[in-house]
Amino acid sequence: MRKYHDFELSRRNLLIGTATSLALGTVTRTARAESSGMDVPAAAPDAPAMANISMRVNGAVRDLNVDTRTTLLDALREHLHFTGTKKGCDHGQCGACTVIVDGRRINSCLTLAVMHQGDSVTTIEGIGTPEHMHPMQTAFVEHDGYQCGYCTSGQICSAVAVIDEIKAGIPSLVTHDLNAVPELTNAELRERMSGNICRCGAYSNIAEAITEVAGRPA
Ligand code: FES
Ligand code: FES
Repeated sequence: MRKYHDFELSRRNLLIGTATSLALGTVTRTARAESSGMDVPAAAPDAPAMANISMRVNGAVRDLNVDTRTTLLDALREHLHFTGTKKGCDHGQCGACTVIVDGRRINSCLTLAVMHQGDSVTTIEGIGTPEHMHPMQTAFVEHDGYQCGYCTSGQICSAVAVIDEIKAGIPSLVTHDLNAVPELTNAELRERMSGNICRCGAYSNIAEAITEVAGRPA
């Protein structure tokens, strides 16, 4: 009968064998690259790859040196300290991280910072300030469009972009006439805002705020 220590022994051997194969693979690849004349970096194999990028954030040019795996969300929050943009799921499912890039709303958790070299990014801090609130921010306050507020930055960035999308005639899944400028019906609004989840359930108040700003009676 197979004993536990037998399994441990074979597992250890497997790990040692795997590590040896990886090391040999690295040596072989390095030797191959050197013999082909490539400039092999002297950095340790596990050192993060860094990149210099420059983007315009809320109207100001910002230069960054980031690990190439850094998401735009983490670059904004951890490097540039625009903490108004929230991390909810970090998987593209909640919309809390929504920002506007070159006029289009995106989930900043689903894109890498290095993909936005030269782009113009607007976060909630660039939409308005407590002293000079954007009409959408004012409407959210007046219609009580939030409770805990965690989703609110993403909701407002999305809502601002939704109105621009409709003005630009961009159809959604529920738009019937693809040749006409869509109207901000309840169905359009709910479809277009469906990527922004509010766990407090402030949806009806959020809808009222957006329809007021869009110029349609709630
Ligand atoms: Fe990006 Fe949830 S944090 S979608
Ligand atoms: Fe709390 Fe939306 S206000 S999650």
